[in-house]
Parts: sequence; C-alpha cells; structure tokens
Amino acid sequence: MGHGGDVIDELVTDHREVEEFFGRIEALPSGDKDRKLYADQATIELVRHSVAEEAYLYPAVREHLANGDALADKETDDHSRAEQMMKDLEACDADDPEFDRIIGMLMTEIRSHIADEEQNLFPKLRAACPENTLNDLGDKVRQAKKLAPTRPHPSAPDKPPANKLLAPGVGLIDRLRDALTGRGKKD
Ligand SMILES: [Fe+2]
Repeated sequence: MGHGGDVIDELVTDHREVEEFFGRIEALPSGDKDRKLYADQATIELVRHSVAEEAYLYPAVREHLANGDALADKETDDHSRAEQMMKDLEACDADDPEFDRIIGMLMTEIRSHIADEEQNLFPKLRAACPENTLNDLGDKVRQAKKLAPTRPHPSAPDKPPANKLLAPGVGLIDRLRDALTGRGKKD
C-alpha cells in the first residue's frame, strides 16, 4: 500500500513501514550492523509519524471524540516514552548489549501503540469524523512529515503538541546531519 488517502490510511501505511523495519531487525542475528541501520530507518519514520500525529491527529481526537482528551493524553505519553527510548538507542552501536535491550523495549512499545490506534482510536475517529475532515487531515499529515524532525528530541517541549513542528529549524538541522553522516543509508 502506498501513501495517500485520508489521515487514517496514511498513518496505517506508516505503521506497516515501521513493522517492516522491525521485522528486518528481528530477522538478523544480534550484533549485525544492519540492525542499527534498520533501527535508524525505523526511528526516522517514527519521529516524523509521532510529530504529525501530535500536530494533527490528537487535536482531532480531542475535538471529535467524547473521551478524546484522555485518549490523546495517553497516546502523547506513549510517544514521550518511545522518544526517550529512541534517544537512548541513538547512542548504541549494533554490538552493544544495550542496543538489544532497548530495541526490544521499543518494538514492544510501538507494537502496542499500533494495536491501540488501529483497534481502538482509528475506528472511533472514522465513525465520529466527516470524511472530508479526515481527507484534509491526511494532506496536513503528509505535509507535516516532510518538514518534521527525523531524530528524537525528548527534551523538546511536548505541549502544546505542535511545538516541534512550529520550530522548522529542528527538522532542517536533523536532515542536514542525516545527509552528512549517511544516517539510515546503506553503505
Ligand atoms: Fe501511530
């Protein structure tokens, strides 16, 4: 499935991409340097995905769902935890025992986020939200991901949620560093 469609289709496509990276990591033996490559690629996708969700999905959840504030707060907390794990992972090489421990925790955390959104949050939002609103949010999320940071910034303020996006310099610097270091690219 390619990118496109309404906000739910777009975010589900992101989920499948991240699961694909996790599958590649799990298929390789502990210490293989490509596990780091796929962890970097998963992190790049996850950071952009989380920023876009925080900027556009959770405000819509708060607006359209009866218990939207509680749901959005929970998802935002999950993101903060995952972001700290990705930051810790950034410091580990593939042969560091900490790498295996943290990537295991991150995969558990993200798989539970994916299940929660796809089984609970997305069906509720689709039922509560007009289709043209979901389509419009899909466009906004795609645009946000183009500018979003690609590295975890757990100390950056999470509330109001759009803060990270409203500081486009962060995304710019991340992309420049990625280009210079070849992060996420196979050598
Ligand atoms: Fe998500």
